[in-house]
Amino acid sequence: MPDIQFQNLAPEHWKADVMLIPFCEGEVDPGRHPELDKAVPWLAVAPALRDLRGEKDELALIHGHPELSVPRALAVGLGPRNAMGMDVFRKAIAEAVSLCAKKEFSSVLLPEPLLAGLPGGRERLVEEAVYAALLALHRFSALRRKPERPAKGPERIALGFAGDNPDYLHAAARRGENAADAVGMARDLANMPGNLLSPQAIAERAEQLAGEYGFACTVFNEAELEKQGFGALAAVGQGSARPPRLVVLEYAAEGHGQEKPLIFVGKGITFDSGGLCIKTATGMGEMKSDMSGAAAVLAAVAAAARENVPRRIVGLLACAENMPDGSAMRPGDVVRTVNGDTVEIVNTDAEGRLALCDALAWAQKEWTPAAIIDIATLTGACAVALGRGLAGLFCDDADLAERMRTAGGTCGEPCWELPLWKPYAEHLKSEIADICHTGPREGGAIHAALFLRHFVAESTRWAHLDIAGTDWAEKSSALCPKGGTGFGTRTLLELARGGVL
Ligand code: BES
Ligand code: MN
Ligand code: ZN
Repeated sequence: MPDIQFQNLAPEHWKADVMLIPFCEGEVDPGRHPELDKAVPWLAVAPALRDLRGEKDELALIHGHPELSVPRALAVGLGPRNAMGMDVFRKAIAEAVSLCAKKEFSSVLLPEPLLAGLPGGRERLVEEAVYAALLALHRFSALRRKPERPAKGPERIALGFAGDNPDYLHAAARRGENAADAVGMARDLANMPGNLLSPQAIAERAEQLAGEYGFACTVFNEAELEKQGFGALAAVGQGSARPPRLVVLEYAAEGHGQEKPLIFVGKGITFDSGGLCIKTATGMGEMKSDMSGAAAVLAAVAAAARENVPRRIVGLLACAENMPDGSAMRPGDVVRTVNGDTVEIVNTDAEGRLALCDALAWAQKEWTPAAIIDIATLTGACAVALGRGLAGLFCDDADLAERMRTAGGTCGEPCWELPLWKPYAEHLKSEIADICHTGPREGGAIHAALFLRHFVAESTRWAHLDIAGTDWAEKSSALCPKGGTGFGTRTLLELARGGVL
């Protein structure tokens, strides 16, 4: 992804291969914008403008003289003003930037004074424009000899500012850039195949990021996990040649070291074969992304540290590979978790909740959390219930749930609340152990959430985000190619940026 640049100049001095001109429907009138008239004076008299309506998905490339400092304008339709939400805006910008990449324009300019006239608030629009423009260009190219085509696209994305004191807008642009970097990183991790990304590899990546961005990282190996009583996480990893890890990320801004931490817990199954209850071949390859939750936590904590958000944050990545072999956990096995409870394992393919329950219990032993948010590709049932566009949110704390919905809603990662339905806890009773880790198939996402609930104290503020439907895109779109979506990363970052929970 290119860096974002600023042109703090009078519009007549802006310079780029192409300038994006976003319009709401029926508002295609360059005469309304004096800055535009200065930057691309030829646009007002361009005959091509007459046919434009500013409809959603409308893109029109308009040429001026090739030797001008801004020789092209790309008009971007946004649809009716009263229906232009941030989703529409992000998609339009991403489509426009994708077109610029296809045409191999080397620099794109986003005119801030024009964005300012759109609904949504000036800072938000700058942040979202930068976010969408950068993510439109992001590709997973670590495993190719030659990067894919969009990598040839714009080397420079610039924001044109006409005002005299745009400091707070610069900060907004940096937030957009930082969020795009984080989501891009989470996507890359999810796309990385199982053979190349083991629990230990995630730990090493975390250590590297910790050094780079300034936070602490501690890794528990299998011996340490056993000593600390992580019987459930250890069981998940015991069938793999590559042992489990718990990665502990700790960040605190100066002066915030003593406050209650906001704790993020991510499911980090680097490959989920199902274990002895092995999955069918169809779609098993997608299970390389069963560490999307951990990727979101790692990327969000790194981004929060990079931004120096004024609070204390802990991230826990519960990492293991779920494989079948002679030492794998069996259906019927009973293991002991961090909080001392015994768990009867019914289906070895329900490994995520085993990895998470130890991390959740341990988090409460180590800290007094301001809140715990866990994020996991936990159940196919959640994807069946809500489809691929919505994550499942489980939370009994009305205020925290509202914050989660707002954070996800504004940043393009919507979630929908599903119930922690107490009567179903009955289904998790075991004949021989303290709790059984799966219930009936019907209501599968709820049973998984209720199992986690068992490991969280009533008094702890907790939310669980099931991203099994949303972490992977089946088809490419302008904002996200087919593959890992990085879903949840930005929600966590948004929570980290927000006030005290
Ligand atoms: N990682 C899967 C859930 C999943 C499925 C994520 C499809 C993304 C796409 C999880 O570990 C799993 O296998 N869950 C089982 C639970 C069942 C055995 C109780 C499921 O959903 O079928
Ligand atoms: Mn599974
Ligand atoms: Zn899984």
